[in-house]
Amino acid sequence: MTKQRRSQAWYGKLDKDGFIHRSWMKNQGFPDHAFDGRPIIGICNTWSELTPCNAGLKGLAEAVKRGVWEAGGFPVEFPVMSLGETQMKPTAMLFRNLLAMDVEESIRAYGMDGVVLLGGCDKTTPGQLMGAASVDLPSIVVSSGPMLNGKWKGKDIGSGTDVWKFSESVRAGDMTLEDFMAAESGMSRSVGVCMTMGTASTMSSLVESMGMSLPTNGALPAVDARRAALAHLTGKRIVEMVDEDLKPSDVLTKEAFINAIMTNAAVGGSTNAVLHLLALAGRVGVDLTLEDFEKGSEIPLLVNCMPSGKYLMEDFCYAGGVPAVLKEISKHLQPAKTVLGGDISVYADGAECYNRDVIHAYDAPVKPAAGLRVLRGNLAPQGAIVKPSAATEHLLEHEGEAYVFENIEDLKANIDRDDLPVTPDTILVLKGCGPKGYPGMPEVGNMPIPRKLVREGVRDMIRVSDARMSGTAFGTVVLHVSPEAQAGGTLALVKTGDRIRVSASKGELELLVDDAELATRREAWKPEEARYERGYAKMYVDHVLQADRGADLDFLVGKDTRPVTRESH
Ligand code: FES
Ligand code: MG
Repeated sequence: MTKQRRSQAWYGKLDKDGFIHRSWMKNQGFPDHAFDGRPIIGICNTWSELTPCNAGLKGLAEAVKRGVWEAGGFPVEFPVMSLGETQMKPTAMLFRNLLAMDVEESIRAYGMDGVVLLGGCDKTTPGQLMGAASVDLPSIVVSSGPMLNGKWKGKDIGSGTDVWKFSESVRAGDMTLEDFMAAESGMSRSVGVCMTMGTASTMSSLVESMGMSLPTNGALPAVDARRAALAHLTGKRIVEMVDEDLKPSDVLTKEAFINAIMTNAAVGGSTNAVLHLLALAGRVGVDLTLEDFEKGSEIPLLVNCMPSGKYLMEDFCYAGGVPAVLKEISKHLQPAKTVLGGDISVYADGAECYNRDVIHAYDAPVKPAAGLRVLRGNLAPQGAIVKPSAATEHLLEHEGEAYVFENIEDLKANIDRDDLPVTPDTILVLKGCGPKGYPGMPEVGNMPIPRKLVREGVRDMIRVSDARMSGTAFGTVVLHVSPEAQAGGTLALVKTGDRIRVSASKGELELLVDDAELATRREAWKPEEARYERGYAKMYVDHVLQADRGADLDFLVGKDTRPVTRESH
C-alpha cells in the first residue's frame, strides 16, 4: 500500500486509542483482519419505517456489503436522519439541510475511506449528496428505486399525480369518497419511491446522468432483483474508487450539472431538482445559476411519464431507462467523469429503446423544448420558475388580476368559498410559503383550483407563490418566487386586484403596480411573527438562503476536507 488510508488513523494505531477503536468494534464479531488496513466503507443508510419510500434499503445495504467484502473492503453500515416526504410536518424540506449536516459530520467523525449513500425519497438523495460532497471522500449512490406501478380498477395509477387528480374529482363531485379511499391501497403496492417521475425518480435519474451512481440506478424498480445486484456491484466499485481516490469533486463538475439539467428536461423531471442541484453545486464550488437551467430548454421532452405524460417508472425502466435517454441526448452531453472513472457517454453504450411510446426519439419527442423556464421581473428579481411540460400552453402567456392568499391558513379557509371573486383568468397568489416563511418551503405551490371553478370544469389556472410543488404535480404553477414574501420580496406587497403579467417565452413575471405605490406598501409591511423560537428550526430560519441559492444554510456552503486529528480519550 502506497498511501496510508484515512481509516488507519482510527484502526491502525497500536496505542490506547487504536485499542479503543478496534476493541469496541470487535464486540460485533469482526475478526482481526478486518482492521488490517483494507478500505473501510461506510454505508450511509436512510432506511426508516417512517420513510416508506426507503423501506427497501435494509436489504440493499446487505447486498452492498456482499460486494464490499468480495472486493476486499470492510463495510460498516450507519443510520442517518431519514426524511419521509409523505409523513413529516411541516415539510421534509425543512430538514434536508439537517440530514446533510448529519451525513457530513457522521462521515467526518468516523474512520471510513469511502461511502455508499443509500437514499431515495425526495430529500434523502440531495441531503446525502450535499453532506458527502462537503467531506469529499470517495462516494457513490444506490437509490431505493420506484414502487411497482399503482393498479386500481384495472388501470395504472401514479403516486402523487393521481392523488391530486382524484382529490380534485372528489371536490368536483365526480368521484365518490368510497372510491377515493379504495384507491389508497392500489396506489402503493410495494416498497420504493413514487413511481411517477416525481422528485425521487427525477433525482435518481439525475444522479445517474451525473455519473454519481452506476448505470441503470435511476429506474430499476425497488423490488427488482437487478437492483440488489446493482447494489452488490456498487459495493465492489466503491472499494476500487477508494484505491483510485475518485471523489465527488472529480465527478460533480459544471459539465456534470449541465448534463443533469438536460436529462431533467428530457425526462420531464421535477422542479425540485432546481433547488437540489443549486444547493449541491454550492457545496462543491461549482458556479451554477438559475440561468444554467435554461440550457435544458433546448432539450425536448422524451420520456412520457406522469406528471408530464402518461406512463410510470416501471414502464420507463423496461423501455430502457436512463441509458436510453442519455443515448438520445448524446450529442448534447458534455464530457464528464463518472464513478466508473470513464466518461458519462459510456453509460449510453449499448443502450436501446424497447418502447418508443415511453421513451421517444430525439426527433419525434413527446413535446418540444420542455425544460424549465426561469422568470424574472419586479415580482421575482432573483427569479422564479415554471415547468412548461406540466403547464397549460395558453396560460404561459397571460395577464390577469391577482387574488391573494396571505398564508396557507387563509388559502385553506377560503379556497372553497362559493363567493370567492375569481374567474379562470384570475392569477392565484400565495404568500408565506418560502424557506423562511413556512418555514421550509413546502410543496403547496400547486394550490387547489377554487371549488366553484372546479365545478365548472376548470382544471388549471396560473398560480404564483414562493413555495415549491411536488414533483408529481402539474399545472401552470409559478414557483420559488425569490426573494420570498417573508424575506420582504415584492411578493409580500401584492394585493388582490393588482395585475400580474406572466410570459414564459420572454421569461417575465411582472407586478403591474408603479414603484411609488410599491414603496408606500413596503413602508407599511411587517414580516409575520416567527413560528419557531428555538432549536433547529430557528437556526434554519436565521440562516437559510433563498431559492436561487438552493435554500442551503449560509454556513454550509462549501466543504472542509481537513483531517480530524484530535481523539476522544
Ligand atoms: Fe417518498 Fe415520493 S414521497 S418518493
Ligand atoms: Mg415530493
